[in-house]
Amino acid sequence: MMNDILIKNTTDFYQKIFGSKAEKIVLSPGRINIIGEHIDYNDGYVLPAAIDKIICFAFEKNNSNKSRIIAIDLDDEFEIDITIAMELTDTVWTNYIRAVINQLKINGFALEGFNCVFSSNIPVGSGLSSSAALECGFLFGINELFNLNIKPVDIALMGQRAEHWVGINCGIMDQFSSVMGLENKVIKIDCRTLEYEYHNADFKDYSLVLFDSNVKHELMTSAYNERRLQCEEGLAIIKSKFPDITSFRDCKEEHILELQDVMSNDVFKRCHFVVKEIKRVTLACDALDSGDILTVGKLMYETHEGLSVDYEVSCAELDLIVDTLKKEAAVVGCRLMGGGFGGCTINLIKKGHEERIKKQLSTLYFDAFGIELKIYDVKIGNGTSLYNNN
Ligand code: GLA
Repeated sequence: MMNDILIKNTTDFYQKIFGSKAEKIVLSPGRINIIGEHIDYNDGYVLPAAIDKIICFAFEKNNSNKSRIIAIDLDDEFEIDITIAMELTDTVWTNYIRAVINQLKINGFALEGFNCVFSSNIPVGSGLSSSAALECGFLFGINELFNLNIKPVDIALMGQRAEHWVGINCGIMDQFSSVMGLENKVIKIDCRTLEYEYHNADFKDYSLVLFDSNVKHELMTSAYNERRLQCEEGLAIIKSKFPDITSFRDCKEEHILELQDVMSNDVFKRCHFVVKEIKRVTLACDALDSGDILTVGKLMYETHEGLSVDYEVSCAELDLIVDTLKKEAAVVGCRLMGGGFGGCTINLIKKGHEERIKKQLSTLYFDAFGIELKIYDVKIGNGTSLYNNN
């Protein structure tokens, strides 16, 4: 319903501005992640899913070298000559677009001009990967418009490289789940090989609810890139001591513990988190398959503890949410989701208790920080796709 309105507004807007019906309509979702945080760039497994919050794009070729791109929600637009070299600018949203065009050029695709308008209901800065939805949806649309034959997984990979160009040295999880999502399924992605399998997203008696701390700490980008470097440093030490180990995947907790003295404390803590988190994803996925949601939840709490204490990507706001809900018998699992330093927690709440908990937590959160807690009930939806506009 919410998405129907978004699609109608976007297509109507297109027609009003350009006087014709858009040629291609693309829907591109945000994502959640059940478990497996900060290990997509460490050869781990992750368990994300696409959600029913989307960006809707409307595209049409315009038979010129110029492209006009309009962000309806921001009331902003820019025109770009696609034949010239792309450069980063101060207008952040346009950088994602430039980054995708850049990727297409690097990969040897010749482009012609087009018009594009888009509008979104994915909250920005909440850890729901609105930027992956933007990169992948935009790329998917151009792929369709010019019949470039780019495969879905390559759309995700090019989207990831676009994100790197903008400045975050991210893993593949967000783009992969935005492109490959399936309704009511979580995707277990092996980030080492990019093999993946779908598992039923059946949480039995529990509802998936997101609590958005409504904060986004500036630190996010620099801290994210720093964590990656610390993990690389740790892995180099592991490799030098255990030459048979080439990846965190093959590393056991014992290996890390043995190296504690030769690693800095920070590097040790990061590596310790990584090997434990890789293990948790497999356990959580098995538990989900067998309907053991209590175990899934317990592992989620463990993940949060690790992200907060060892990986140090949490913040006071997120910790307060998790610490509060941990005392609530009806919340079986809760943890910060995504990169951290703000954004959402993902929560599994016993059905029937959702409204009470939402109310109590909102009050407590506002009293503590003077910030309004935002709440999203998400459904698991399909990955980036074409919408039939007829
Ligand atoms: C961000 C990145 C992902 C992933 C998560 C943390 O969302 O874009 O690649 O690393 O953080 O799990």
